[in-house]
Amino acid sequence: MDWGFQNRLHRMFSPVSSNTVMLAVDHGYFMGPTHRLEDARATIAPLVPHADALALTRGILRRCVDASVTTPIVLRVSGGTTILQDDLSHEAITTSMREAVRLNVSAVALSVFVGAPHEHDSLTHLSQLVDEGEEIGMPVVSITAVGKELEKRDARYLALACRVSAELGAHIVKTYYCEGFDKVVDGCPVPLVVAGGPKLDTDRAALELARNAIDQGAHGIDMGRNIWQSDHPVAMLKALRSIVHEKATVREALDVLATEKAHPSARVPAATA
Ligand code: R5P
Repeated sequence: MDWGFQNRLHRMFSPVSSNTVMLAVDHGYFMGPTHRLEDARATIAPLVPHADALALTRGILRRCVDASVTTPIVLRVSGGTTILQDDLSHEAITTSMREAVRLNVSAVALSVFVGAPHEHDSLTHLSQLVDEGEEIGMPVVSITAVGKELEKRDARYLALACRVSAELGAHIVKTYYCEGFDKVVDGCPVPLVVAGGPKLDTDRAALELARNAIDQGAHGIDMGRNIWQSDHPVAMLKALRSIVHEKATVREALDVLATEKAHPSARVPAATA
């Protein structure tokens, strides 16, 4: 791949750990004003300095992120349905590659819905994006969406979705951690990052998820709700960084969390509490 493509990738992944901590704030594109992301600017601002990349839509990027921010952007370019529909897989490409270049992003991302009614459309959209991305040096992230069927987060299903994404040319695949995750990793020849899913009962559970995913071969996380729905989002993000980049154990990450909670910047902004 050309220099521009490589440079975009290197801006997102640490040269030391080879991993990345992406902050996912794209939920509103189909979920609307998600809890604690209602005021996206207030949620995002304190977290941006601690993220290796920011995953969001063009609307939130333009309206809620200052152009002075240098954090790499992963631009969601698929959408077109909402949680009011039973079938969430009916997505189209909603943002052009030209727009992605204009916004100076580091990658574009779309959801693929393997096993869903619009599987074919989402997979051919991925192929189309890869063709366009390779022409201009833009990495493409395939997000293996499970829609409302959270039980799809098992190794057989995710291994299939991740492998198909890689076969069609995705440069990075975002998926879920699951029992037997090493098999998902083994079958996918491109870097995997894991989402967190709905908020877990404890911060410890989210840290364990990240630790297990990295131990089994993930190259990082692309996490949202378990960070910004935490009562201490900045502290949580820093604790996750210690796992992803510094090989911290869950115990050590909990220590980071406890220390960081003492900082005023670690607290949830009053407007979103
Ligand atoms: C869905 O809206 C997006 O793909 C999210 O970016 C993804 O699910 C990661 O966010 P969370 O960790 O909240 O699941």
